[in-house]
Amino acid sequence: MRKFLQNITRRKSGTALLADYELDDNIQGTNLVRTLRLKDLVSFGIAAIIGAGIFSTIGNASAAGGPGVSLLFIFTAIACGFSALCYAQFASSIPVSGSAYTYAYASFGELVAWIIGWDLLMEYAIGNIAVAISWSDYFTAVLQGVGIGMPEYLTMDFLSASRGYAAAQELMAKGQTLAELPSGMQEAFLAWQNAPVLGSVKLVADLPALGITVLITYLVYIGIKESKRTANLLVLLKLIVILLVITVGAFYVNTDNWSPFAPNGISGILKGVSAVFFAYIGFDAISTTAEECENPQRDLPRAMILALVICTTLYVILALILTGMVPYNELAVGDPLAYVFSRVNMDAMAGIVAVSAIVAMASVLLVFQYGQPRIWMSMSRDGLLPKIFSDIHPKHKTPWFATIVTGFVVAVPALFMNLTEVTDLTSIGTLFAFVLVCGGILLMEEKQKEVETLHKGFQVPYINAKYTLPLLTIGLLALLYVYNGEAMTSYLSTEGGWEVFQHKLPLLGFIVITIIMTVLSFTRNLSLIPVLGLLTNLYLMTELGITNWARFLGWLAFGLILYFAYGYRNSKLGKHQL
Ligand code: ALA
Repeated sequence: MRKFLQNITRRKSGTALLADYELDDNIQGTNLVRTLRLKDLVSFGIAAIIGAGIFSTIGNASAAGGPGVSLLFIFTAIACGFSALCYAQFASSIPVSGSAYTYAYASFGELVAWIIGWDLLMEYAIGNIAVAISWSDYFTAVLQGVGIGMPEYLTMDFLSASRGYAAAQELMAKGQTLAELPSGMQEAFLAWQNAPVLGSVKLVADLPALGITVLITYLVYIGIKESKRTANLLVLLKLIVILLVITVGAFYVNTDNWSPFAPNGISGILKGVSAVFFAYIGFDAISTTAEECENPQRDLPRAMILALVICTTLYVILALILTGMVPYNELAVGDPLAYVFSRVNMDAMAGIVAVSAIVAMASVLLVFQYGQPRIWMSMSRDGLLPKIFSDIHPKHKTPWFATIVTGFVVAVPALFMNLTEVTDLTSIGTLFAFVLVCGGILLMEEKQKEVETLHKGFQVPYINAKYTLPLLTIGLLALLYVYNGEAMTSYLSTEGGWEVFQHKLPLLGFIVITIIMTVLSFTRNLSLIPVLGLLTNLYLMTELGITNWARFLGWLAFGLILYFAYGYRNSKLGKHQL
């Protein structure tokens, strides 16, 4: 048992991380090329951040929360900012690729590293499924705008079509005509009705989502140079259009629409957590490029924070513009940024925004499609995945096999999966990675002597949490009691049995962990920023609901089976220790 515990907590030292990297260099002489500078990294970050979230999922979040959703953008940015600082410390002290996975290997040990590597699949690959699906929605809308129609059954997923068909039938049975139904429901109805049938299965699939994934995977496959240039160009276009939306939109803001600011209260605003958080995902992808940066110690932390600050500013202003231009409850559409302009009769502007959304989302796809194979590459170097995952293409200098597998993992589900479900899964998985990265910094600081780092690079500024955290906790509880005492009372009520209680479990877990962290902060003088990062991201996770928690835990369990079947036995670190 002791041996088993030792095995799953074996930690990789910073020197070992670099030694592996150099060993590969000597053996193959074909390592990745160091070409990225601060400007490229910020651009890379923005390419990953601004995408489907702000162009698409913000619509439903605003419709639920009203203008107050801008506050959620600020809160989420703060939570992301804490994690960005932690990512930055890790990335500058252990500047090899692999992101949170590599950091976990150095701080928590192998099992947690595997868990996080597996979990990052949710952020990158599943996140990209969501982006590919949104991309396809905008793409087909633009095609329609220029008079090119595609059969509905080739542009949507199976589940949306079958559910939409059932809902439409129900309404039509009550006397509504097809033309009276919401446009999304009409499309689903037609898709299901007209789809060809193979045996007893309706053939409904999202072909544009498949097409864009294949194209982007090809770009990543042929190498960083091409990908970098493309990303820089895409980002420039994206920023110009967002600034245009803000400037033109500002003239159409009716400040009456901002009142009430939170029409559905705090709970309405919190319904947007998954969508808003999704819009921020991506700044952490910058850390996966550590091996390709000219100066990772200096540039990675700066780039992450800079990208986050730029995007937060744009998001908050955009949220206010959108909810100022039209009444918030009209925003439950898939293309809110284009919608607000068609609403004020500026169809040309709506068209420009829709086309730019296609560009924006393509750049997100590019960055994630780039990041995922590099995480697998690191895991394979460590023996946790088969060796072929770290094989570098002799000509293109990219992890070719891992790139192709990523292409399949994204493209195939993108044909069939449902947007809301993949967005939720991506958000819960990524939040968990953030929680672990913040925890990793705390652990690293506790075990400073044991966890070896390569460089004394950027450090998260130390603020003693001893008194600040207890004070903050008490202060927040008091605020909650004053402003939302009802929610507190209903949380404590025992009515409803298990059915109701199970939904309280995530928050219960959060409360327990907050108490533990408060006590630890007091007794061990923990560093405030990582503690707040851990707690704020964990809190956001609790808002994602028990169903997503169950799916997430199921995903982790599946990953553990794979680890014990392969990685546990083949771990390089394990072999060295024999
Ligand atoms: N933040 C990325 C997006 O919104 C995932 O598309």
